[in-house]
Amino acid sequence: MGMPSVLVLNGPNLNLLGTREPAIYGAETLDDVANLCREAAGRLGLEIDFRQSNAEHQLIDWLHEARTRVDGIVINPAAYTHTSVAIADALCAIAKPVIEVHISNVHKREAFRHHSFVSPIAEAIIVGCGTQGYVLALERMATLLAEKATK
Ligand code: DQA
Repeated sequence: MGMPSVLVLNGPNLNLLGTREPAIYGAETLDDVANLCREAAGRLGLEIDFRQSNAEHQLIDWLHEARTRVDGIVINPAAYTHTSVAIADALCAIAKPVIEVHISNVHKREAFRHHSFVSPIAEAIIVGCGTQGYVLALERMATLLAEKATK
């Protein structure tokens, strides 16, 4: 058996991390986040596929591809969190554990960010931990997948 594999998916505007509203999202770039995730994955014995798109259909197509290919999904759906029934449906269709990540504490921000279409499907939600949230999500995912493997 190979290592468990996890898709780390990022939604719109996260390609601008580091320059986009740094007071809210911090100074790290998406490449920095990818490196953080690769480092964590190496330590945790996970294989990761780290992706970002600004297009809803692209995120959905990647989720469909992941259906038979990955063991779990860590997703920061960005603004689609609050709008996309389609992404929530795709996540439901996959039937693999999902962990939702937000860099900022969405509950401290505008009311429209308080609702998530993804949260009811997620095993866990990590908000307001900055980019460390991705590492925490991978740590939790490694535990969930190890528990699943022994069942
Ligand atoms: C975000 C929070 C969302 O409300 C926002 O639209 C984003 C990023 C976060 O990581 O804090 O683009 O998902």
